[in-house]
Amino acid sequence: MTQARPERAAYGYDAPGIMLGLLATGTALVAAGATGWAWLGGVWQIGAAALCLTGLVPFVLGVMMVLYALYGKTRTRDHILDLARLSGATSLLDIGTGAGLLLVGAAKGLPHGHATGIDIWAAKDLSDNSADAAARNARIEGVTPRVTIRTADARALPFADASFDRVLSLLCLHNIEPKPDQSLACQEIARVLKPGGRVVIGDYVPTHGYAKALAAAGLTVRQSQSAIGVAWSLMWVLVADKPAR
Ligand SMILES: C[S@@+](CC[C@H](N)C(=O)[O-])C[C@H]1O[C@@H](n2cnc3c(N)ncnc32)[C@H](O)[C@@H]1O
Repeated sequence: MTQARPERAAYGYDAPGIMLGLLATGTALVAAGATGWAWLGGVWQIGAAALCLTGLVPFVLGVMMVLYALYGKTRTRDHILDLARLSGATSLLDIGTGAGLLLVGAAKGLPHGHATGIDIWAAKDLSDNSADAAARNARIEGVTPRVTIRTADARALPFADASFDRVLSLLCLHNIEPKPDQSLACQEIARVLKPGGRVVIGDYVPTHGYAKALAAAGLTVRQSQSAIGVAWSLMWVLVADKPAR
């Protein structure tokens, strides 16, 4: 008799189109370069070698994105949750929750609290990106009663001022266009954070711009630094606190 396999949470591949594009472009260039090297002679071989080396760049970036999805994602989640210092917190917001990576992880660390995840569910930003995917992961991980999932834009959060003890976000803010709107999202984060609360933001681009916007909104930035060693991929992590009243 075959046993049904237990359901496993799945948090998807970030920017799947870009990831596949990098792998396809890299593979095509390396293959063309290698073929040229084998078949051509003289100076043409130098061109073929250059093509091969050029192709390695997108190929390696694509492989890094795959490795991040398979291993780096959960390591980065745990790093961000550590920095968030959840003990004592009762309310948390995850901005751009996607399939609920931070949302579900945070809810597990908030046995007496509640975690809310918001997203606009952009298909280009995450594979299988939907509120249903986040709800499914919450169910599999046994935290459904402690999470709320809502459709909302980071630039206009549908919450009152000072609603959350913690605000988290991973790989979301860089997607916001035009770029000045990323500061708008940071202002919203500062607004909904309670005095004494903490925000932790991870992104694959340097987080200094977010740090500037949060500082302008009155928060104290504790760190804004690379976490490539944690994510095994391009990653920056920012921590900022809202002064207690
Ligand atoms: C790369 S995914 C990361 C998802 C999740 N945080 C994770 O790490 O697995 C980026 C997410 O940000 C969401 N997003 C993009 N722009 C947004 C916006 N303006 N407001 C809210 N969410 C947004 C996308 O829909 C997507 O789910």
